[in-house]
Order: sequence, then structure tokens, then C-alpha cells
Amino acid sequence: KIGMIAENLGYNVYAVGGFVRDLLLRQENLDIDLVVEGDGITLAKKLQKEINAHIHTYQKFGTAVVILPDGFRLDIATARTEYYEFPGALPKVEMSSLKLDLYRRDFTINALAIKLNPKQFGLLLDFFGAQRDLKERMIRVLYNLSFVEDPTRILRAVRFEQRFGFRISKQTLDLIRQALKLNLLFQTTGSRIWHELKCIFGETNPAAIIERLNELSVLKSLHPALKWDKSLKKLFKEIEAVLSWFELLFLEEKYVKEEVYLLGLLDPLKEEEVNSFLTVLEFPKSKKELFFKKRREIFNIYGLWQKKREIKPSLVYLTIKEIPLEFVLYLMAKLSPAKKKWLSLYFTQWRDIKPILTGDDLKAMGLKPGPIFRTILEELLKARLDGKVKTEEDEKKLVKKI
Ligand code: CTP
Repeated sequence: KIGMIAENLGYNVYAVGGFVRDLLLRQENLDIDLVVEGDGITLAKKLQKEINAHIHTYQKFGTAVVILPDGFRLDIATARTEYYEFPGALPKVEMSSLKLDLYRRDFTINALAIKLNPKQFGLLLDFFGAQRDLKERMIRVLYNLSFVEDPTRILRAVRFEQRFGFRISKQTLDLIRQALKLNLLFQTTGSRIWHELKCIFGETNPAAIIERLNELSVLKSLHPALKWDKSLKKLFKEIEAVLSWFELLFLEEKYVKEEVYLLGLLDPLKEEEVNSFLTVLEFPKSKKELFFKKRREIFNIYGLWQKKREIKPSLVYLTIKEIPLEFVLYLMAKLSPAKKKWLSLYFTQWRDIKPILTGDDLKAMGLKPGPIFRTILEELLKARLDGKVKTEEDEKKLVKKI
């Protein structure tokens, strides 16, 4: 349908990038990127009219996001036809605007296109040997200045390499090494680096990616204090296990997975090092301060709990209840199996426990409402968590004692 609508406007339209790559790799990918030879915004507006799609347009970039009536999302870009000042050595032959658009991208495997116009629907366009690289399982840049143009591609190369079990080609590795020597990662903004790190932490196996980044000396280029060793590898595996356990049990509870891994990566760092790295990543001051405060609390709890063999449920409850989920999950990953149990009981049982008596019951017992109610209810909760009261009668007795 989109192909037809484009055809009627006299445009060519193609599905490109990750979607096509994953189609050839037979992997699911629900993000569809389209490139239009013509005007992407006009096409989006037509889709809005003809199939009732919701659209957001970005005039400046000639791009649009289209949400189809069934909720499906399409990103539309315009292949720019105007003269494009290209940093790499551009082949002398003239390129179609699609080919130029694809050439500007990161890796050959991401530079495939499938035509959607009705007459040639499904035609696979492979200008740069992407099918060969998919077969040979290679990550290869399209032009030598790719990492100069966009140093975050260094992180992307490693991410794709590990995600698909591919290898970065020799020449591309050399280009990465050169880019690192020139310290190019520093020339890009911290927020773009943080974006790429989040993508890494969102992958199925972030540990493998970080390990490879370390092997290629990318990690220390990001910050000299960052490192990778056996104990960090173990912590990452623990985080992975804790997160799968948590997601299985509490599917609907949202938390930011990337933050748990960030805490993991920063685990061996001193506070000043964490501070300088988060500054590099352009974390706003308030976010940074909150991060430190909570991280410090976790370190304190960890230190205290290391010394204990037993703990009262009420103490676990009171210690943990105000701490953001990401930090609690990180703490859980750090703890030994016996102590992990304290937190798993907290999540599965203790945090849902409430006293039987309510404020109304206390009033009915003739008590005057006031701040004392809070104290009483908290004492009741503690007693219940620690198994000291079982029935409503037990609770009433305790209230009288208090
Ligand atoms: N791209 C690029 N340089 C970047 C980021 C993106 O050239 N620094 C290009 C890639 O060719 C990619 C496309 O823009 O195919 C879309 O980017 P993105 O959605 O991040 O990549 P996907 O390939 O879809 O990756 P993923 O599977 O992780 O979503």
C-alpha cells in the first residue's frame, strides 16, 4: 500500500537498514525504516490522509514518524538529492540518492534496501556487498572516515559483532585503532556515548560486549578508570541472573535495566572516578547527586549485611523500601546466595505484608488520631514481618502495650 501511494506521487520508497539486515538473518525486527527518493514528508502526509495514520514530521530533517492504525511504527527519511558534501573519498561514478543515503551509513550489513514500489516490490538492493558480509559474518565500514565522521560507531561495531557472533573485519579494526589513537571518542557528545552504552546494556549479553570493548582498549578510552576483570564479569553474570529472575516474577514492574548495568560497570570505581565518568556522559547534576546518594547507601548496606549471618525481616524491609528498584537489584546481584534470599523474600513476600488493624480500627479502639498512629502501625507491621503477631487479637494486645 505504501509502495502504491509513493508510486502515485512519483517517488521510490525502500525499506532499509536494520529491518532488512534482520530479515536476511531471519531475526525479528519490528522497527521499519523507510527511505524515500522524493519528499518523505509529503509521503507521510499522504499516509495520514489515505490510511488514517498518525504522523509527526520534522521539516528540518525531511523525516517523519508514522504510526499506522494498528499501532505499527514507521520511520520515514528523505534521501537527499542535493549536493552532499561527503567526507570520504566519494567514488567518481554518480550515485542515486538512495545509494548515497546508504553509503553514509555505518556498516555494510546495515546498508541494504528493499524496494516497495509495486512494480519492483521486494527487489533487494545491495550496492556494497552486504550479502557477502552477512554470509562471511563480517562487520565492515563503508568508507575509511566512518569513525571520524561518527566515533560512536566504534561502540556500534562491537555491539553488532557480539550480538550476531560476527567478526569486525581487519581493515575496520585498524580504523578503530586509529580512531582511538586520535582520541576521537572524546570529540563526540557524552549524551551520544550514553545512548550507545544504553543500547549495549539493553542487549542480551552486555558482558560479552564490554569484554570485547576492553580487549580493543575502547573501555579505557571512554574513561581511564573503567576496567574489566574476572570479578566484574562475575558481577555482570549475577546481574543478568537477578534481572531474569525479577522479570519472570514481576513482569509488569518497570525498572531501567541499563541503570543496573551501569551500576555494575562502575562497581569497582572510586566515587571521584564515578563522578568524572558521569560528567563525561553529561548526566545532569541532580541525577548525578541522586545516583551517588543511592550508590553510597547500597555500599553501606552491603558492608553491614556482609557482617551479619541472620537478619530480621523487618530490618530488611525498612532498609530497602525507600531505595529505587535498580539499586536494590544491583545490591541483590552483589550479595552471596544466602543473602540474596533476604531480598528474594522481600520481593516475593515481605514487601506486601500489612498489619490487619487499620487507622479506623485504632480509632474504634478509642485512640485519638495523630502522629502516634503512624508509629503504632509501623510497630504492628514490624511485629507481623518478624512473626511476633499472627492474629488480630495479637495485634490488639500489642497496641495496648505500645
Ligand atoms: N546509523 C549510522 N550511524 C549511527 C547510527 C545509525 O549509520 N551512528 C544507521 C545504521 O545504518 C542503522 C540506521 O542508521 O541501520 C538506524 O539506526 P538504528 O535504529 O540505531 O540501528 P539498527 O540497525 O536498526 O539497530 P538495532 O537493531 O540495534 O535497532
